[in-house]
This record gives sequence, structure tokens and C-alpha cells, in this order.
Amino acid sequence: MLRITSIEEYHSEYKKSIDNPEQFWAEKAEQFYWQKKWDEVLRWNFDEPKIEWFVGGKLNITENCLDRHLPTRANQIAYYWEPNNPNEKAIELTYQQLYEQVCKFSNVLKNNDAKKGDRICIYMPMIPELTIAVLACARIGAIHSVVFGGFSATSLSGRIQDCDCNIVITSDGGYRGAKDIPMKQVVDEALELCPSVKKVVVVERTKTPITMLEGRDIFWSNEMQNASVNCPAEIMDAEDFLFILYTSGSTGKPKGVVHTCGGYMVYTHYSFQNVFQYNEGEVYWCTADIGWITGHSYIVYAPLLAGATSVIFEGVPTYPNAGRFWEIIDKYNVNIFYTAPTAIRALEAAGVDFVKPYKLNSLRILGSVGEPINEEAWNWYNEHIGKYNCPIVDTWWQTETGGILISPLAGITKTKPCFATLPLPGIQPVLVDEKGNEIKGNGVEGNLCVKFPWPSIIRTTYGDNERCKQNYFATYPNLYFTGDGCKRDDDGYYRITGRVDDVMNISGHRIGTAEVESAINMHIDIVESAVVGYQHDIKGQGIYAYVICVNKQKDVEMLRKEILAEVTKTIGAIAKPDKIQIVSGLPKTRSGKIMRRILRKVAEGELHNLGDISTLLDPSVVEEIKLGVIK
Ligand code: PRX
Repeated sequence: MLRITSIEEYHSEYKKSIDNPEQFWAEKAEQFYWQKKWDEVLRWNFDEPKIEWFVGGKLNITENCLDRHLPTRANQIAYYWEPNNPNEKAIELTYQQLYEQVCKFSNVLKNNDAKKGDRICIYMPMIPELTIAVLACARIGAIHSVVFGGFSATSLSGRIQDCDCNIVITSDGGYRGAKDIPMKQVVDEALELCPSVKKVVVVERTKTPITMLEGRDIFWSNEMQNASVNCPAEIMDAEDFLFILYTSGSTGKPKGVVHTCGGYMVYTHYSFQNVFQYNEGEVYWCTADIGWITGHSYIVYAPLLAGATSVIFEGVPTYPNAGRFWEIIDKYNVNIFYTAPTAIRALEAAGVDFVKPYKLNSLRILGSVGEPINEEAWNWYNEHIGKYNCPIVDTWWQTETGGILISPLAGITKTKPCFATLPLPGIQPVLVDEKGNEIKGNGVEGNLCVKFPWPSIIRTTYGDNERCKQNYFATYPNLYFTGDGCKRDDDGYYRITGRVDDVMNISGHRIGTAEVESAINMHIDIVESAVVGYQHDIKGQGIYAYVICVNKQKDVEMLRKEILAEVTKTIGAIAKPDKIQIVSGLPKTRSGKIMRRILRKVAEGELHNLGDISTLLDPSVVEEIKLGVIK
């Protein structure tokens, strides 16, 4: 059985998945098209780590996303594409058209020397060509590394270098709200440091003037003209790499999370079917950017695997006004809508007058992802968008998990505001204390781990399996550690409380404090900085930076502007601190460790209960910091 239809069935499926995981997942995998069936369902150890699903199986995920549907769905819409500007023409792509475009672009890649195993970087706005590029990589067996279009040239070049990409696919520019983003220019700057890149394919989206480097840069449209629509899919091993997606951790540079072909396909599809309870013919819309995992799993792969019809939106929720999401829902009669708490809060703040003109009566299910959803936002979503009629699925997962792990099944699991509720079948969450002892029973709180692999679990971090081990499998032996804190209430429902490491969640974007600090430290006048997250009404968390400046004469406003520019240049505008406080020292222990706990409290405005500060080298810095705190 693929789709669960009642809570009793959920419990019995869950039990089966724990009693015999291999049989459970083999059944789910059976329905796909495999060029060769697997020899063994699962081989794993969390120690190295080495995790293999559907060992020996051969497949190509795009045959399952596209070719398999053609006999029955050739003329069904795969994607409605809605442009940033509501007055520009929208585009529809049927499964047949998408298939043909993907095959053609696969041939373009091959004509430009791309082959199985190559790493191809995709740096694009939310246009149909982005999906086509992703699928074309998968079709020829190249490993895609999509980099979110908001990252800077420095970030982009770091990601290209880390996995040695030989091709970059981009566009001249991109539209986001009232802004034009000069994407090709960013690529040009990034590539000054990336000798591995031999070809750059450019889609013309904004028609802004760009420089094309002869021999390296080619236009998408020219290349597509003569490309054949015939492109047999490369035969992939179930454990061949499908993609790399960079994400921030608590230390060092962003790491390349690797997902593989077989397990990722099986799990993303299974979770999509069950969480969203997608019915044939429905219209589904996930508002994420394809540059993040939500877009990979629940805009590109899972909906296509399910033969669904989806909306892809190029723009932002507030352009040309805060009614845009609701207008799009009515325009396409969206049945299932999946967005982030930060967007809900921003639209709530804009006021219900932006919602009132729209019917929203096509909506059946609402989803939330990316950060804890606060009760007020949950209630607003439920009342004004769902009209008390649509179950809200608060889906908890991560780049590393590939798919949703803890979530209500829409209309089946009784929901509770702020709770991701119950694990999906196959997922065995455990809460542990600091020492790694399992905290059993209900009404408890601890660090969230998972004790058994599921098919789309992270396989490695690109080029560095030891780092993967240290990050996820070393904190607690034999457990995958999520980095999240979590409560389990008396009903056994899970509530994610947020990160317990030095990772911030800014508007649903994951940013490491260390990354922002090292960007700030690039400023010539800054000797040291410490960055923490603090509660922010719209973004969930905001970034608070404490900086030590050597130049005492420096104009403070000027310094702030320069720091923001430095962070934008090194990471991207999403990582700009909201508050910058200049301090003469940081609270450090005698061994030189910054006590972030204190900085976090001060940033939250909690100036009194700072806890024990007796171990500080110089407790007087705390007094100074408290006096200068930015409200
Ligand atoms: O802290 C959790 C938070 O987002 C982190 C994962 O971020 P990322 O890899 O960028 O993936 C985001 C989209 C899946 C988690 O460690 N998070 C994600 N979803 C939720 C959440 N926190 C609370 N509730 C959620 N539903």
C-alpha cells in the first residue's frame, strides 16, 4: 500500500516499517521503473558512515519522473509557471513538453562534453529552464549542484571549487519583486577563481546586456535549436550520486550534502503522497526556491514522480502587493499550498485586507516548512487562508534528510498548533540527553536523533566522509544527530524547539554563525566578532553581531554599512546582520572560548538572568555589552 488513508492504517504501516524495514521499503520501491532490480534492500553502518539502499539496483530517476507518465499523462500539465510580473504571460508545460525539453537540454549538455559523474553547477532564477536543467543533469548522470540565486560570487565560487564543476548553467539576470538580479555578472566574477569550469550555458531571461566569453559562454536558446529530442536515460546505480546541495553547519564552510538516486526517489515520493495526500488532477504549489532542499524534493522530484500538476512561481509574496500568493491560488485553483512560516508572518503583518478579495475556495491542504511555526502564525493561516477547513501539515525535515520525516498526514493525523506531530513510517526518532542517553516516555525534551536509516538519508558530504561522520554521526554513537532540540508531549507528538548548535534559521534559511563571523572579520577594522541569533517577529530569527573595531576614530554608521557590504559580498544579502553592536571585548572563558549563551541572552533583551558568569576572564565586558545593547 502506498498511500495511507486512516490513522489506524498509519499505526499499522508504522509498525510494519519498524518490524521489517527492508520489506516495507522494497514494497514501496516496487512500483517504480528499475532497469535492474536491486540485489539487497539495505546495507548500513552509522559508524563510517556508509548507508546503501537498493544495492545493485539500476535506474534513472527522470524515467520515473517523465517517460513513465507519457502513455497516460502526455497532455497533462506538469508545471504552470507564474512570472514575477503578473502582466507577463504565464507558461504551461505538459509532461510531453517537459520531457522533450529535458531530452533536448540533455543533448546540449552532452554536446558540450558533459558526461556521467561530472558536477554541474546551476545558478538560476525560478524559471522553467531551472527545472529542465536539473532534470537534464539527472538524465545524463551528471551530478547537479544548485546554488540559490541569492548567494554572492564568493559563495558561488566556493561551491563550484569544492566539487570541481566543469559546467555552469545560469541566466543573464533574474526578477525578484522590484529587483533585477545580475546573475551572469555574479557568475563571471565567481569564475575568475574557478579554472575547472569550461562551459557556461546562459538563458536569456531579462535581456540585460552581459559579456559572453568566447569559447566558454554559450546561449541556451542557440544550443537548443538543433538539439535532438531523443536522449536515452543514462543507467545509474541506485547509490550513484544524484545531487550535491550545500548547506551551513555550526563550523567551517558550507558542506556539500550528497543524495543518491534510488533511495531519494523512493522516499521523496512516499512522503509526498502521504503527507499531502495528493489526489489525481489536483494542483499543488510549493513556494520554496529550487535552490533549497524543499525545492529539490517537493517542487522538482516528488511531484513529478507522483505525476502531479504543480505551480512554479518566479517572484516574491509581496510583489506587486501582499495579495500575490492569494491571487495565484485563485488563478490556478491551487488545492495544496506549501509555504514557510516567515512568509505567513510577513503576509499576516500586511493585513487581512490583502486576503479578502480572494476566494481561496480551491484550497484543501496547507503546509508549513523550514522553521518552527509560532502559534499566532499557525492560527492566522488556519483562519484566514484555510478558513478552518484545511488541515495544516507542519513538516519537519532537513537538507540532510532529503524528505519530510516528522509531519501530520493531511486530514489523517489530528493536528496541534506548533507540533510536527508524528514520524512518518520508517522514521525512528529518539530524544537524547547531553550524554546521549535515550530519554524514553512522553512529556520529555531532548536532542533529536534518528536511530535507523531511511532511504533518503544523507550519504556523505562531498569529498569528505569524515566531516559527515563528525557532523552527524559522532556526537552520539550509532545515532544520526539532527542538531535540533525537541519536545515529545503526552500524546507522543513531536515539537521542534529549534537548533541546539551554532546554526541560525533566518527566514527559513540556514546560516552558520561562524560563516557570518568570518565574513565580518574580512573588514579591515574588525579584529573579532561574535554572531548569535535572536527572536525576530517576521524572520523567526534575526542576526545580532557583536564586533570589536580597532579603529577608535571610525564613524559608527559608516562601519555598519561597510560590514553589511562585506557580508553581502562574502555570503549574500540573506546573511546581513540586523543589529551590529560595537564592543571593546567579548565574554570569554579563561580558555578563550566565547560564551555565546550570554550574548544570546543579551541579544534577546534578557539583561538580568545571565546565569553564572564567574568563569569569565573579564566579567566587566558583560556590563559594557549590556549598556550598549541595541533594542
Ligand atoms: O531547525 C530545523 C528547521 O530547519 C532546519 C533544516 O534546515 P534546512 O536544511 O535548510 O531545511 C529546511 C527545509 C526542510 C532543521 O534542522 N526546520 C525545518 N522544518 C521545520 C524546522 N523547525 C521546526 N519546524 C519545522 N517544520
